[in-house]
Amino acid sequence: MASTVARSYTLSNGIQMPSVGLGTYRVRDQDTLDTCILEALRAGYRLIDTAAVYKNEAAIGNSIKRILEENLVPGLTRADIFLTSKLAPKDQGYDACYKAVLESLQNLQMDYIDLYLIHWPGTSKLKLPDPQNATNRMESWHALEDLYRVKKLRSIGVSNYTVHHLTQLVERPRRDHHHATLSSADRSIAPTSTASLARTMVVPHVHQFEMHPRLLQRDLLEFCRHHRIQVQAYSSLGEGRLIALTPPPAPAMDAHYNSAPLPGALDIMPDLIRKYFAPLLPPIDLGPVIDDEEQRKADYAKHSAQILLRWGLQHGAVVIPKSTQPERIRNNLDLFSFEIDADIVVVRAVDVDGSSHDSDVAV
Ligand SMILES: NC(=O)c1ccc[n+]([C@@H]2O[C@H](COP(=O)([O-])OP(=O)(O)OC[C@H]3O[C@@H](n4cnc5c(N)ncnc54)[C@H](OP(=O)(O)O)[C@@H]3O)[C@@H](O)[C@H]2O)c1
Repeated sequence: MASTVARSYTLSNGIQMPSVGLGTYRVRDQDTLDTCILEALRAGYRLIDTAAVYKNEAAIGNSIKRILEENLVPGLTRADIFLTSKLAPKDQGYDACYKAVLESLQNLQMDYIDLYLIHWPGTSKLKLPDPQNATNRMESWHALEDLYRVKKLRSIGVSNYTVHHLTQLVERPRRDHHHATLSSADRSIAPTSTASLARTMVVPHVHQFEMHPRLLQRDLLEFCRHHRIQVQAYSSLGEGRLIALTPPPAPAMDAHYNSAPLPGALDIMPDLIRKYFAPLLPPIDLGPVIDDEEQRKADYAKHSAQILLRWGLQHGAVVIPKSTQPERIRNNLDLFSFEIDADIVVVRAVDVDGSSHDSDVAV
């Protein structure tokens, strides 16, 4: 299967979104973020993913500000960076969402954010079946639409929505007014004309959800394709757990790695048999190719991470691997000069659940 993968995708509003970005979940320490973000931008990453609940927006803002001011990546400007943040579930609702975005802008020390997502379809402290969840997330969406219209957000989207949640959003009735009760300071950038608001019916530009070979989520992929919503995959590496379980590339897929052909059953199997029986095969043994045990493990992890990420790209998704290790950050971007057969990426994960995250979602 031949496929090409773009370095950026064009969103439905014409904005360019890089196809690979840096995840930052659980990374809060300023020095670590300084190192990771500089490493990533020097390596060629242009997308950084954060969220209010990660509590690292301010530190990320500091890192980027310093990199730009001190020209640590020569020629790089704010306009070259695609920054994503997300609404905390405690801030669902029109006013709370509006204020939360302003707070994110302040934390990040930015005039605008490239993509803002509703992080989760539910609201903190509400029970899952509570119908207020649906009301709140629609109100949050209205706030994002308004902030999009005044160009504080260049694109808007959702995260962890099911097809049910997306359908509610895409097939909603037209809005004819908004219920802003903002302070005068906040209103200074609020829309002034309800007539123009009525025209602002935005279909999400992006949907970010967990997606990897153990959790394909075909229904969401199909819905997003149909509605021109860009898919962004998170936890492509299963938070690291899928790496050890994913075989390195078979020789047929391996022009990129420039290594000697690897021994193993996959070498000699016709495509069809590979496709249906690969899940049952034993691991490919890299031992004879790479003598040194540590090197073997490092190489295996590198290849496996790249396969998992390339798999996401070949499904048309943006991928946002998280790493705090410079070498891994660089390797995780090295995804454009090889090809895999995405149908036969096999994760030997008999004992790993599909999802890394809580799958109970609000109504
Ligand atoms: N919207 C949401 O609800 C949501 C949920 C989860 C995640 N996300 C976003 O998606 C990003 C990525 O997902 P994730 O953080 O869950 O996990 P992930 O990217 O699937 O995996 C990250 C883990 O893999 C390790 N790793 C990374 N590259 C590696 C390599 N080349 N070789 C070996 N190990 C490697 C990292 O360790 P080291 O750091 O030590 O390298 C880390 O432990 C997050 O950081 C966040 O920005 C969003």
